[in-house]
Amino acid sequence: MFDEIQFDRIKRLPKYVFAEVNELKMAERRAGADVIDFSMGNPDGDTPDHIREKLVESAQKTKTHGYSNSKGIIKLRKAICDWYERRYGVILDPETEAVATMGSKEGYAHLAYAITNPGDVIVVPDPTYPIHSYGFVLAGGNVQKMELPFDEDYVVDEDQFFVNLDTAFKDSFVKPKYIVVNFPHNPSSATVTPEFYERLVALAKKERFYIISDIAYGDITFRGYKTPSIMSVPGAKDVAVESFTLSKSYNMAGWRVGFFVGNKKLIAALQKIKSWLDYGMFTPIQVAATVALNGDQQCVEEIVSKYEKRQDVLVEAFNRAGWPVKLNRASMFVWAKIPECAAHLGSLEFSKRLLVEAQVAVAPGIGFGEYGEGYVRIALIENENRIRQAAKNIKRFLAQFEEGAVE
Ligand SMILES: Cc1ncc(COP(=O)(O)O)c(C=O)c1O
Repeated sequence: MFDEIQFDRIKRLPKYVFAEVNELKMAERRAGADVIDFSMGNPDGDTPDHIREKLVESAQKTKTHGYSNSKGIIKLRKAICDWYERRYGVILDPETEAVATMGSKEGYAHLAYAITNPGDVIVVPDPTYPIHSYGFVLAGGNVQKMELPFDEDYVVDEDQFFVNLDTAFKDSFVKPKYIVVNFPHNPSSATVTPEFYERLVALAKKERFYIISDIAYGDITFRGYKTPSIMSVPGAKDVAVESFTLSKSYNMAGWRVGFFVGNKKLIAALQKIKSWLDYGMFTPIQVAATVALNGDQQCVEEIVSKYEKRQDVLVEAFNRAGWPVKLNRASMFVWAKIPECAAHLGSLEFSKRLLVEAQVAVAPGIGFGEYGEGYVRIALIENENRIRQAAKNIKRFLAQFEEGAVE
């Protein structure tokens, strides 16, 4: 009916490849399979007690149930700025340089909506967390891709990054206005040095573009690595904003709490558009989020150490099962090249067969962009025993592709 009524904006979104694997996963589960699920970056742990208790306490009070403040209550914005000062020595103004968002994903969608004019070009390294590009696509912008270069230890080749960025600028018909960077990176786990941001800020000033940096996995680091912030670069506020989320560090993914800080012009745009679109997070959630940021960070260390142990177990067990994967320095993911014997399948077909034949769910690399092909993303959201079980299933699964085996 009404075929002439079309939704052009929705048509700009491609088929969601993760949905294909998800549907298959549901079908397997309905049929009684015990699927070991590494497919989503959804933390499996509970939010620490003291944060939950604060939520309950605040919800029991009067005057916490009405509409809240769309840019975040001042206490939360102050906690955000204090977090930056403690961690990175960066001084931010909670009124003009910080905004709380309903998860950082919401922030990306609305920031893009606020700052994109039709036809604007945004550079996004590929592969990428989808909202980094599709937030802008939905807002009417065009994404200029560039390959994210990193070595086999998931360390970004910074010189090559700037070569690729230069090429992306040259290849774009319109001069790009924004670049989105995300380190530690989803899906690849790739990391950068503080010098990387110094170079990027200097280039942004010279070439006149804004930088949007996402440090969602900033806390989830191992083996001595510490996540740098672009905000630590002197003068970064002139050209950059940065986002963080409570989803990963505090197992608060369902609570929907994130934030953006930095450049006043971009923060004001996000604050303004949000004031027209929402009334802010439920106040008790904001109060509890304040406690998460201000409180004892031992809980974060425990969460990080859980991921580190799982990564150690996974890397060892998968290697023994015949799937060569390497340790990385950050994030809750392992970005694994499809084993050579099964590489011909491509990441989508490989993921589907792994699901049906080994009952192991992973995210196909192609879902993160064309340069994600050849890889799958394994989220460390299953416990160590289940990881070992997955490795056993995988060993059996891979045997069919080995030389001499009939596929
Ligand atoms: C890189 C990155 N940024 C942002 C997010 C969104 O987090 P949230 O919306 O829960 O704050 C995610 C979620 O997986 C992510 O991987």
